[in-house]
Amino acid sequence: MNPTVDITLTVNGKSVRRAVEPRQNLVDFLRDELDLTGSHVGCEHGVCGACTVRVDGRLVRGCLLLAVQADGCPVETIEGASERGELAALQRAFREENALQCGFCTPGFLMTVVAFLRDTPAPSDDEIRRGLAGNLCRCTGYQNIVRAVRRASELMGARNPPA
Ligand code: FES
Ligand code: FES
Repeated sequence: MNPTVDITLTVNGKSVRRAVEPRQNLVDFLRDELDLTGSHVGCEHGVCGACTVRVDGRLVRGCLLLAVQADGCPVETIEGASERGELAALQRAFREENALQCGFCTPGFLMTVVAFLRDTPAPSDDEIRRGLAGNLCRCTGYQNIVRAVRRASELMGARNPPA
């Protein structure tokens, strides 16, 4: 039997205690131990952004952080962001602008965009592209995602729609 380490963390506002293998990464822990499967696993090397979650209020790649490194921290996933209503405008904008196809990348994008629009409420297209550069999408060609972020910024009242 592999050795385990006890960890306690707060996931989407709920306290969680588990014994984990020291090498288990955070996204596998969230998916396999807590059934929070909204965070996806793509490259497992910190490149694609599909596993993006928030730890201590900062965006991290869940595949690059060990679950034991999140011990004692608040962790927020796409499920928590959705329950808190953080995604309403974004989801509408992604639908309206047809910004997803297979949807594999979408949870990671949404987590990144929420944080991005908090810091940059009315971004230019260049700023959007720079802000999302760490998230990869193999389907959309990105143009619709950029439009969706612009649209979300309008829906959130930070900018006016084009006349
Ligand atoms: S699965 Fe973590 S960055 Fe790709
Ligand atoms: S919509 Fe398929 S990877 Fe982005």
